[in-house]
Amino acid sequence: MAYPPNFLDEIRGRVAVSDVCAKRVKLMRRGREHVGLSPFNQEKTPSFTVNDEKGFYHCFSSGKHGDVFSFIMETEGLSFPEAVESLAGQAGLAMPEQTPQDREREQRRASLYDVTEAACKWFEMQLRRSGGAEGLDYLRNRGLDDGTIQHFRLGYAPDGRAMGEALTAQGIKERDLLEAGLLRKPDDGRAPYAFFRQRVMFPITDRRGRVIAFGGRILGDGSAAKYINSPDTPLFDKGRTLYNLAGARQASHDSGQLLVTEGYMDVIALVRAGFKAAVAPLGTALTEEQIEQLWRLSAEPILCFDGDSAGQRAASRGAERALPLLKPGRSLRFAYLPSGQDPDSLIQGQGVAAMQRVIDGAHPLMDMIWETETAISPLDTPERRADLEVRLRKRVAQIADDTVKQHYGNMLRERLRETFRPAARRDFRGNGRMRGNPPKTGPRSNLASLVASNPRRRQQALLATLVNHPALYEELVETIAVVDLDPDLDKIRQEIHHLLASVPGLDSDALKRHLSETADSGSLKGLLGKDVLLHAGFARTGAPLEEVQAGVQDLLASMLRTSRSRELLEEGRIAEAEGTADGEARFLRIRNEFERAESEIAKLED
Ligand code: UTP
Ligand code: MN
Repeated sequence: MAYPPNFLDEIRGRVAVSDVCAKRVKLMRRGREHVGLSPFNQEKTPSFTVNDEKGFYHCFSSGKHGDVFSFIMETEGLSFPEAVESLAGQAGLAMPEQTPQDREREQRRASLYDVTEAACKWFEMQLRRSGGAEGLDYLRNRGLDDGTIQHFRLGYAPDGRAMGEALTAQGIKERDLLEAGLLRKPDDGRAPYAFFRQRVMFPITDRRGRVIAFGGRILGDGSAAKYINSPDTPLFDKGRTLYNLAGARQASHDSGQLLVTEGYMDVIALVRAGFKAAVAPLGTALTEEQIEQLWRLSAEPILCFDGDSAGQRAASRGAERALPLLKPGRSLRFAYLPSGQDPDSLIQGQGVAAMQRVIDGAHPLMDMIWETETAISPLDTPERRADLEVRLRKRVAQIADDTVKQHYGNMLRERLRETFRPAARRDFRGNGRMRGNPPKTGPRSNLASLVASNPRRRQQALLATLVNHPALYEELVETIAVVDLDPDLDKIRQEIHHLLASVPGLDSDALKRHLSETADSGSLKGLLGKDVLLHAGFARTGAPLEEVQAGVQDLLASMLRTSRSRELLEEGRIAEAEGTADGEARFLRIRNEFERAESEIAKLED
């Protein structure tokens, strides 16, 4: 059975290959790809790779290669139509009904591409005719050269009936021009008129580069709407289309970068300045579908906004949309232009380097949320601080992915603590010594000796802190749950978790009594012994709460970083063992990252 032209692409757009493969293969992220053990052959070292951007998998051991559909056919033994049906279900799409009317609509849709293509050519041609001189002047005055005009296939729509007449003379039916949004029928029964009149034309293409719609700009300033876009048609769904997506795809894939701006002219200016991976939504805030499409090209697309308040609001709306969709490794970044500027005017006025600086200064989504929320009111009273905390919690609650949500929670709590830490304490952290009365020992120096001593001692210190300060359990529980512990200490962690969850408000002494009955006495003694406290003074009973919090945060950070470097080490070994040039390149990259992670730990420890 024939599917509607976009149906299979729609499925490919909605279902990531890695998600489909992950049902059969344990995948590990490796740069832009995922790797795992081949589902087709028995093997010990992973040779099965998945690339979501390209939408396919490749198995080096069996030579098999394909997309979501072939993977399902291969591994589940389904026929192609069955695979389509199964994936359509996963994508939340209803299977198209193939009635005779549907088939006819499908054919009409296919022929509409010819209509929009013919219109595009005609508009391009007008720019070179005397009737289009005004349009060409306008574009030239905005600094566009002929190469750019040709590349983006810019054109001109003159006033009057010329477009309709020319295209019907080519054998195109009036009803197709109406359906493609190029002609409009007035309500009063008069003859259809051209939708775009006296405008420079920006053709809008689909993912494959086929013209599906147009944007038209008036010449100069006027009272009419500055831009109008084709209405939604069988080919064009505004909320699912991004201007220049087809053009940006390869560049984005090569550079890993993707810029998202607001206007046609901005995309064109960016591409001319060498930022080829640039796209724009079509006059609306980014939709969910558009964000998913961006993520297929780049892990962290950069949204460029005007630095003024309207730009800030638009950025904030972008963040709002993205939060529920975040996935491990997938986010957005936000670049702010000087107030009143867009990429086009910035590049024209201050050059490519100014734009590059804006891009380099892009903020992670996390910072953008923090900045937006902390800017709402001063943080000088307990109520205002509490309000900030509640607002941040609400933002975090919007995140659907549990792992991402947990890390947002952790990082924002850390920032709150850092922000509200008394000045003297901050000073101590910053300078490594407190003014006036330098303490002999503090959380910092303790941590150094602790880490230097041994990993088990860190684990013991963590649990000792909990046992001595069960009040901190709530705020730390999520992070503590992901830290690696030796098996006997892990048991104690579970015991503590069990006790504190079933008896809320249990105090330290009661907790110790319970543990002495249930936990392994050797392990318990070890963690509550003098040795641990000698190195982790912040864990002791009666230590000031702030010292405890700061100490345990540093401790957790160093433990989590250590486990990350262990992961990297493993990834590096796999890459090296591959023995290919690609493996070698990956190994070098991983080694760099590993060295950075190690130096971070070293910084924490001194
Ligand atoms: P801007 O007003 O920021 O346009 O609209 P711009 O690209 O800087 O325009 P120039 O530089 O004056 O030519 C950004 C986008 O919003 C949509 C268009 O898609 C435009 O590219 N828009 C804007 C409309 O759809 N209608 C409008 O009236 C204005
Ligand atoms: Mn502009």
